[in-house]
Amino acid sequence: MRPRSLVVVANRLPIDDSVPDGACEWRRSPGGLVSALHPLLRRQPATWVGWAGRSGPAPSLPDIDGVRMVTVPLSDEDIRDHYEGFANATLWPLYHDAVEQPTYHRRWWEAYRRVNQRFADAAAEVADPEAVVWVQDYHLQLVPAMLRERRPDVRIGFFLHVPFPPPELFMQLPRRDALLTGLLGADLIGFQRPQATHNFAQLAARLFDLPATDERITVGDRAVRTGAFPVSIDMAEMATLANQSEVIERARRWRGDLGHPRHVVLSVDRMDYTKGIEQRLKAYSELLADGRVKVHETALVQVAMPSRERVGHYQVLRDRVEREVGRINGEFGRVGEPAVHYLTQPFNRAELAALYRVADVLAATPLRDGMNLVAKEYVAARVDDTGALLLSEFAGAAVELTHAFLVNPHDLDGLKRTLLTALQTPPAELRIRMRAMRSHLRTHDIRAWARAYLTALDETGGLAARLTAD
Ligand code: ADP
Ligand code: F6P
Repeated sequence: MRPRSLVVVANRLPIDDSVPDGACEWRRSPGGLVSALHPLLRRQPATWVGWAGRSGPAPSLPDIDGVRMVTVPLSDEDIRDHYEGFANATLWPLYHDAVEQPTYHRRWWEAYRRVNQRFADAAAEVADPEAVVWVQDYHLQLVPAMLRERRPDVRIGFFLHVPFPPPELFMQLPRRDALLTGLLGADLIGFQRPQATHNFAQLAARLFDLPATDERITVGDRAVRTGAFPVSIDMAEMATLANQSEVIERARRWRGDLGHPRHVVLSVDRMDYTKGIEQRLKAYSELLADGRVKVHETALVQVAMPSRERVGHYQVLRDRVEREVGRINGEFGRVGEPAVHYLTQPFNRAELAALYRVADVLAATPLRDGMNLVAKEYVAARVDDTGALLLSEFAGAAVELTHAFLVNPHDLDGLKRTLLTALQTPPAELRIRMRAMRSHLRTHDIRAWARAYLTALDETGGLAARLTAD
């Protein structure tokens, strides 16, 4: 049998075309999706259908590392109503436990449908006969059914990088039937955690009265398979970076720049209200006020990369975070010694590895998160088995990284207590925990994720073998 070719369909292309001479480079944008897929696709020829990140006609882009880039154009109106509107002000909050109020506008739904159709059409044009088309994330949930309509010969996979909400939340959606129909066009729907497959099965049974288990939903004469495939990182890449002498030297220098504190606590987040940044700052500020954490002993480094900056909730969040960082530094900082080292810049992979090396504790405490790859990157970078991971129970990563210091980020006292515990735990115990997490990630890295998903989607096994070969 001829091996199937692969088309990835995602809202964003993984490229940065902003480099001065017009050249294109792989971009490691701050976001889990590109971080996950980037290390895989360099290995095998594939096509990536996505948006180039700015409005206007689609720029024509060269192949990059053997990956063909197919651009889907979005107008200002599409970006406002599809990306900023329905995707990030309706679906994003709804799928994250409605920690902020989702907004519903009929105009946004129209744009979502229109843009999904455009992505489906682009995928239908470029897919070889019987190709595997792998649709990614919440921006494109109508694409599976739209694509099936045009190209019944292709195998359609869908993977949701964010949580799938319980039915009682999903039922709020004014266009819930159309959304579920869109998803059910796939042959295989992958989620981050088993709870999501369960939520989805319950929803299909409740809304459409379909025979549904956590593994399979019957739609007419078709079976739609579902499963949990927790996404991961390129463990080897991060470990190799962390072992480089320049990275080790940079980490040493940064520790000096921080004033050689006894402890460094690090958080690396997109500036997003799901990440629990405000709750963490509040807990930290109370520890400073109680005198249980002292500025000359402990440095907190908060990296918060601005994200979705035209969406109202994100603007409000950034203002609040910056006000709080200013207040904490004003109240507890000393001359030349801020209490919170606050950075909103992008870092390259080597710099991130150095940051992870500096950190005695990584605090990843989202209120809800599909996975949280930052937590996994930290573990991968701790090549000497030191360091402590403070991890929210509500991150997908908590299902796997059970040796982390798990915490409920809504419980401020628990957050304070667990951070102190992480800071005070003897090195021997930290080593046991870190070793267990590293050993898990070695066998559950990004290639294992792709292998598991693609083997389930393409029963020939050929595609998975090619994509994940050494
Ligand atoms: P999300 O997908 O919600 O953004 P994840 O934690 O799963 O959250 O993934 C975030 C990804 O973005 C990680 O790979 C992380 O290294 C990267 N990242 C976060 N902040 C920055 C930054 N300031 N510069 C570069 N990369 C970043
Ligand atoms: O899964 C979370 C996600 O939406 C990814 O699709 C993306 O990688 C990341 O967050 C960053 O979001 P955006 O593309 O809106 O900058």
